[in-house]
Amino acid sequence: MKKVIAIYPGSFDPPTNGHLDLIERGSKIFDELVVAILRNPEKDPLFSVAEKRRMLETLTEDFKNVRVDTFEGLTVDYAARVKATAVLRGIRALSDYEYELQMALMNRKLQPELETVFMMPAEQYSYLSSRLVREVAKLGGSITDLVPEMVEQKLKEKLDPVLKLQPATKTKAGRRE
Ligand code: PNS
Repeated sequence: MKKVIAIYPGSFDPPTNGHLDLIERGSKIFDELVVAILRNPEKDPLFSVAEKRRMLETLTEDFKNVRVDTFEGLTVDYAARVKATAVLRGIRALSDYEYELQMALMNRKLQPELETVFMMPAEQYSYLSSRLVREVAKLGGSITDLVPEMVEQKLKEKLDPVLKLQPATKTKAGRRE
């Protein structure tokens, strides 16, 4: 039977527990899931593409049918290159719907064969976004439980480079148990 390959495109700046929740759900329904980090020269991200890739590779290493890649240009073109027939996106609240609908319909216009599949993350992540995580971390608030421990540590290092000199106390893959 034909393998169903899906891509999960996004900025992942930084990866959150909501992203990981969706990756886990996606890995259960697709034969192969490619987490595709957008290389966008116009955006001014906190983390470089290489940093995001390293974090996501470590965080998804237990999912054998998940791999991490980067892409530039149109999502539909990237999907064709990796032979994906589906795009996975998360919908948290009604506020996501309009933007996601626009994107899904534009992608369908560009490539009618490519289906967008929406999944809902666990409800405890329904208010969570990378933008809010960046903002709270920058202003010194706690992001514990919102991002994996590894991401929390990297955010602290990024925002306070002195911390980089201190020894890290991380668990396997930096994931919270
Ligand atoms: O995590 P994000 O920032 O919500 O992800 C948005 C992303 C990367 C999925 C979207 O910006 C995208 O697909 N960019 C690639 C360019 C493209 O294909 N644009 C047309 C789609 S409507």
